[in-house]
Amino acid sequence: MPQALLEPLLLSMTVMTPCRKRCLCRSAQLLVGLLCILATLLVLSFLAAIRHEELLSRSVPFLMGSGVGKRHIDTLLLPPPNAFPLSPLPCALTDPWLLVLVASATGHAARRAAVRHSWGSVRVTGGRSMRTVFTLGLPGDVAQQAALEHEAAEHGDVLQARFTDTYANLTLKTLAMLGWATTHCPTARFLLKADDDVILNLPALVRYLERLAGPPTAYLGQVYSHVAPIRDPHSRYYVPTSLYPEPTFPPYCSGPAYVLSAPAAAAVLGAARQLPLLPIEDVFVALCARYAGIAPHHLKYMAGATHYPPDACCYWEVLFSVHEVPPDEMLSMWEAAEHPCTAWQRFLGLIRCQVLAWLAMEDTP
Ligand SMILES: *[C@@H]1O[C@H](CO)[C@@H](O)[C@H](O)[C@H]1NC(C)=O
Repeated sequence: MPQALLEPLLLSMTVMTPCRKRCLCRSAQLLVGLLCILATLLVLSFLAAIRHEELLSRSVPFLMGSGVGKRHIDTLLLPPPNAFPLSPLPCALTDPWLLVLVASATGHAARRAAVRHSWGSVRVTGGRSMRTVFTLGLPGDVAQQAALEHEAAEHGDVLQARFTDTYANLTLKTLAMLGWATTHCPTARFLLKADDDVILNLPALVRYLERLAGPPTAYLGQVYSHVAPIRDPHSRYYVPTSLYPEPTFPPYCSGPAYVLSAPAAAAVLGAARQLPLLPIEDVFVALCARYAGIAPHHLKYMAGATHYPPDACCYWEVLFSVHEVPPDEMLSMWEAAEHPCTAWQRFLGLIRCQVLAWLAMEDTP
């Protein structure tokens, strides 16, 4: 490209020179030629920089639900080397078996610390290896980015994608983490997407997944059916009719914690290319799964949106996931796991936990 541009430039210079006979002209010519090359290179590098910036700053609201989004989505699905400002080391050949992808946010350092010190500290259970990766977007200021870089260097578990970290960009976060997982951790058998306020019972979940029969394309979680889109523009969950005209969403696995087997994740990513991007993360995954012919499988041990009171027996004996757990509660629950539950608590299991959750709900006004 530079060669093609330079040749006519040099040629025109040679033609236009008025004093070809004098040898003094030769050195002048040479000097001008060199200056021209320098100027051309400067212009070219400047143009290249602009295009680079333009690509990085391509904004997303325009992309939501429109065809313009394809290129952005492709970048997330087949991430180029510069797609992630911060990225953990790629996975080893056979490790991990279960990859936990935690959707975090730039300001959630305390939540990440609580996860690292509780359920996220376990690397192996029942002979199966696990790894936790926290995903976030770009922060609003330089100081926060510096703190994130420090955190990433210290723990090696931070994946940062190139979009503004906002609630409305949550779907992009899920696509980014699935994209990273399928390209940098392709041998993980299962991917578990979880929020950073979720307490997970990984040993119980791993035991369940090991026994899982059925098709290799697994999509598991607390399944919600017949949920209608919210048409109120002021809502956080607003979905305009233009984006999604149907009266109800397809059955979907509730966002705080759901599992995709590796082939299911690949199928979801492939479908994400074909569908208009919906800002509701868990519903969008379900739409992609449906497009790929994968139905969600209901797992009653995933808490979904039900809020359970801090009860170690429910958390550690019965459930796989509970969400809306603040960092301090997560740490105290983790410590409480040391104390065994009584036989009847275990026996009544899920019913007891559901009743507790119901009672807790009655308490709060
Ligand atoms: C999502 O990220 C893009 C790219 O960084 C940004 O321009 C946009 O404002 C974000 N969208 C929302 C709704 O926050």
